[in-house]
Amino acid sequence: MPHAVVLGAGVIGLSTALHLQSQSPYSITLLARDFPLPSETIDAVSQINFTSPWGGAHNRLVPPTNPTEEREHAMSLRTFTHMKTLHSQNPGEAGITFMKGVEYLEAPGPAYKELNDEKAKSLGMEGFRLLRKEEYPDERVTWGCEYDTWCVNPMVFCSFLLRRFVYLGGKVVRREVRDPVEIFGMRDLGEVDVVVNCSGNGFGDEKVFITRGQTCLVANACPVTVTRQNADGSWTFCVPRNFQGGTIIGGTKEPNNWDPNPSPEVRAGLLKKFAATYPCILDSHGGGFQVIKDIVGRRPTRKGGMRLEREQLSNGKSIVHAYGLGGRGYELSWGVAEGVAELLPKPTTRTSKL
Ligand SMILES: Cc1cc2nc3c(=O)[nH]c(=O)nc-3n(C[C@H](O)[C@H](O)[C@H](O)COP(=O)(O)OP(=O)(O)OC[C@H]3O[C@@H](n4cnc5c(N)ncnc54)[C@H](O)[C@@H]3O)c2cc1C
Ligand SMILES: *[C@@H]1O[C@H](CO)[C@@H](O)[C@H](O)[C@H]1NC(C)=O
Ligand SMILES: *[C@@H]1O[C@H](CO)[C@@H](O)[C@H](O)[C@H]1NC(C)=O
Repeated sequence: MPHAVVLGAGVIGLSTALHLQSQSPYSITLLARDFPLPSETIDAVSQINFTSPWGGAHNRLVPPTNPTEEREHAMSLRTFTHMKTLHSQNPGEAGITFMKGVEYLEAPGPAYKELNDEKAKSLGMEGFRLLRKEEYPDERVTWGCEYDTWCVNPMVFCSFLLRRFVYLGGKVVRREVRDPVEIFGMRDLGEVDVVVNCSGNGFGDEKVFITRGQTCLVANACPVTVTRQNADGSWTFCVPRNFQGGTIIGGTKEPNNWDPNPSPEVRAGLLKKFAATYPCILDSHGGGFQVIKDIVGRRPTRKGGMRLEREQLSNGKSIVHAYGLGGRGYELSWGVAEGVAELLPKPTTRTSKL
């Protein structure tokens, strides 16, 4: 059987490994430095480059305005359908919650302004409703809507994917590499035909940069996921993680900022702005927030969008690249996994080297 090694056990590597395991003729090994752990034990200093634990993570359906966004939108819809299936087949286990997504915009662009019931339907948005003026949180908000969406508790979800992969026969190796090409020479893995590069921020592609995100994890519950786009370009949002994982209040988007330390002033600002936008989040904790911890993560961003392509090496082997998901890794995860499956070379019979 041909053999593919998936490098990386963030949401992209895990989804890809699980999908290829059942939908490709390859046997699959998952190799990574970092694996999902209970989020309480992930180290904010040594594991800051492992992005998946620090994500929200919610799904936002963004009206596409160019071909890159159209491709991403299609992937987010496929992921939505897949999340529904996973959730219904494994209720309470996969770390997924379905709920309303609420959007408030201070300065909506044309793609938002054009959204109505019909347009939303053509974009595959279920449960869409434009909000009435009385429902806006304040006068600066000039446009709002809600629709059906999902959130995950990242490490509950990722651990579920990992367990499922192993349960269905997948092999796992914890190892750090300097370059994906090294994997072809690792004798203990056996013959390797394809490496799938799901290394997130990994190894010096010049187009890859990080987008720092500071958020704050609170114990307060919230029944919906709320996103507000402010006129100055900043964001005010929450992501209920559920499964005893609290709610994320966010958040910053700071390209090329490598500061690993959370700022207390930023935390105070995020909490204040969110409470003003959605005051009933304070109800579950006597009118205040119960802070669990600050979070700083590094979104693996790439100029021109994610890299999803196959590279043929001179020795007949190939690498399939699947990285640079920025702030949308969870939302697009299953679409990316399907994209990788389409890019895998059709296996030819290998001559035995015994
Ligand atoms: C604050 C914040 C909020 C976010 N909110 C959302 C959200 O609401 N919705 C959403 O969809 N996304 C969200 N994201 C983005 C999302 O978290 C990322 O897009 C996603 O986690 C990227 O996953 P990945 O698998 O590509 O990378 P990673 O999770 O970084 O995984 C990379 C993997 O590669 C391995 N690796 C790297 N280098 C090596 C090496 N040299 N040797 C061996 N292994 C290696 C790592 O160990 C790890 O296993 C958010 C991100 C942040 C920071
Ligand atoms: C994170 O990645 C950067 C860039 O590759 C590297 O310089 C840094 O040492 C990494 N940090 C940790 C804690 O691994
Ligand atoms: C693998 O992915 C990383 C991004 O994580 C990229 O920087 C690197 O160039 C890729 N590896 C190869 C061999 O192209």
